[in-house]
Amino acid sequence: MHDAGYAHLIAAQSTMIVAENAMKWRALHPESGHYDFAAADRIVNFAQRNGIQMRGHNLVWHEAMPEWFALSVTHENARQVLNSHIRTVMGRYSGRMHSWDVVNEAIHTEGGRPDGLRDTPWLELIGDDYIDFSFRAARAAEPFALLTYNEFGLEYDSDADGVKRTLVYEMLRGLRQRGVPIDAVGIQSHLRAGTNETIGYGLRSFIRQCRGLGLKVFVTELDVDDSRLPNDVAVRDAAVAEIYKNYVSLALEEGVSAVMMWGITDRYTWLDKAKPRPDGAHARPLPFDEKLQPTSAFFAITEAFRQRNPPQGKPVRAEAF
Ligand code: G3I
Repeated sequence: MHDAGYAHLIAAQSTMIVAENAMKWRALHPESGHYDFAAADRIVNFAQRNGIQMRGHNLVWHEAMPEWFALSVTHENARQVLNSHIRTVMGRYSGRMHSWDVVNEAIHTEGGRPDGLRDTPWLELIGDDYIDFSFRAARAAEPFALLTYNEFGLEYDSDADGVKRTLVYEMLRGLRQRGVPIDAVGIQSHLRAGTNETIGYGLRSFIRQCRGLGLKVFVTELDVDDSRLPNDVAVRDAAVAEIYKNYVSLALEEGVSAVMMWGITDRYTWLDKAKPRPDGAHARPLPFDEKLQPTSAFFAITEAFRQRNPPQGKPVRAEAF
């Protein structure tokens, strides 16, 4: 993508970035044994040129798989295929990544299994220990990056999110007990405005539990879906900003060590395609609008960080200026 204003905004505003799609299997591994690193390399090089850290997303997921996978991966070769993908991809960027989402979205509460494991090709082909296998392969391939389990649906106080938090926590606890190399949990944080759902005790206790296991906690894909709000931009922006302020404050209070957005500008948001507004208006889920101007969300996020880390030194008196 060639958008100089967008690139400039990212360079000016970000200390860490993640490729939305360019490091998924379908993008990196389009044919069996053939890799295409062009787009991913451009992003990693951009980050490096601008002194920005880089997250990797993702190595094991049931979505964004290339066509050839279902046709040629079997019980017999699945471990070898996965290990080889992990070694090739992580090896290429070894030492240049802050963290990698090794396994993404492995828990599905409605799947019916007591352990909550989602029915995916990986579970089917490798077996119940595929998550252990993936993290061990990842550590062997790349000793430097923080190995992360990334998940959605953990944020709200609702019963459904509560059940998922319990299953994810039990899964993580098992990994730690078995000595599987995992360093962090990613809470995706795709939030919704215009509902009466609350975020508080459930998420706080989950973060504390995860930190109690010795894991770092990252917010990995934060955005706020405004599709349930009226068209009025001022109304939408105020509601979205309020959610950001509360959410980022909670995360920082609970010791979350990175906050990543799923996009920086409304010009490029997955929500316009995936969850379009009923009135056809463009979504405004991110801190910069389509014209790359900061919105109320930007100031709300900045304020949450400022309150947590007030500027150091003596306050300067107004008349000094
Ligand atoms: O690249 C093709 C393009 O060649 C083709 O012309 C076009 C036609 O629709 O499709 C393009 O691929 C799309 C891709 O985004 C790039 O735009 C896929 O259809 C579409 O499914 C894909 O959606 C992405 C989705 O993950 C699935 O990979 C979204 O952009 C991306 O925001 C979303 O991100 C996920 C995280 O990885 C995991 N957590 C949830 C999050 C939101 O769903």
